[in-house]
Amino acid sequence: MKKLSNKLSMTLLIILASTSCDNNSNNNNKMTTTDSSQTTKTGITKIDWGEHDGKKVHLYTLVNNKGTEVRITNYGGIVTSFISADNNGNKSDIVLGFNSLDPYLQSPPYFGALIGRYGNRIADAKFTLDGNIYKLAANNGKNHLHGGLKGFDKVVWDASTSSDNASSLTLKYLSKNGEEGYPGNLNVNVQYTLTDDNELKIEYNAETDKATPVNLTNHSYFNLSGDVSNTILDHTLMIDADKYTPVDTTLIPTGELKPVKGTSFDFTTAQKIGSRIGQVTGGYDHNWVLNKKGNEIQRIATLSDSSSGRKLEVFTTEPGLQFYTGNFLDGTIKTSDGKPINKNTALCLETQHFPDSPNKPGFPSTILQPGQKYHTVTVYKLSVSK
Ligand code: BGC
Repeated sequence: MKKLSNKLSMTLLIILASTSCDNNSNNNNKMTTTDSSQTTKTGITKIDWGEHDGKKVHLYTLVNNKGTEVRITNYGGIVTSFISADNNGNKSDIVLGFNSLDPYLQSPPYFGALIGRYGNRIADAKFTLDGNIYKLAANNGKNHLHGGLKGFDKVVWDASTSSDNASSLTLKYLSKNGEEGYPGNLNVNVQYTLTDDNELKIEYNAETDKATPVNLTNHSYFNLSGDVSNTILDHTLMIDADKYTPVDTTLIPTGELKPVKGTSFDFTTAQKIGSRIGQVTGGYDHNWVLNKKGNEIQRIATLSDSSSGRKLEVFTTEPGLQFYTGNFLDGTIKTSDGKPINKNTALCLETQHFPDSPNKPGFPSTILQPGQKYHTVTVYKLSVSK
């Protein structure tokens, strides 16, 4: 997350990206002037970003007609940056990320990544399905977290692009039967689209040949001020949820759906994140049970930062939201320009089904059957108030 005061380097990167387009990328880009000193192209461009597992890794830059830029790599489907203007027209990056592949290969805690096959934790790294016990990797104490040792965040996805109405990047991955202990060959397809309304839309699709749990999400860490020297404690947040799922000491839900009313978990009206975080052991790292019913897409959360004027609205088809305040960030990891990424530097709003659902019959099911189509949609919509 780097403040983009140096517009020259930005412009150079964009030129580099533009000249590296291949047949996959659409070259019919319109010219858009975003401010007096910088000209960017709308559309999508691609540059080489290295290699992993013998496969080529690329960085894709999606630019809309407002000059907002989202960069995504096919390594882990990671959103590496989300650059937008604040209320003074100054651009900065509102997500944690790096400007090269190497730091991602050191496994930072899921910065910007696609998470699968199962977002969040599965207790004791096991579940029973159709009478069979499936053992998963215990990569978080005794529990299984975010798909295991080599989840979808650490694989190279096949990518294709289109720029018909808006810029889209489609990522595909076949998770083979037995991978990380999960049953069934799972064909996954995730599409990222940046619209001219400053929406980053993520559509997740999957099909399996054997019943399996599936719970896909994105793990972007947001700081709307665009500067990691600021924490997110002054941001305000609304979550449209009357209940949350309390957890045990290993962050596994107890199974209870607890009312938020009268607790530090009540974000039904916008609240400053820092105002009650001290009353929550370790900080917020919980799943909220969204009030929305059914699979319709609805706005479920709004995050605002008065210093930059930026507002991020989250829309989803999912029943849950993991709100995580970067509690385990401790300054060890540095940004690409050397700033420590400290506790509460950024927060995640992970749309999902509830943690440990495969072991919690009372939670909405996460089991995908052969012949069924997994399809969920989440939109992060950015705006700025003057
Ligand atoms: C989890 C946290 C975890 C973080 C990074 C979040 O989704 O809820 O407990 O530390 O991801 O791994």
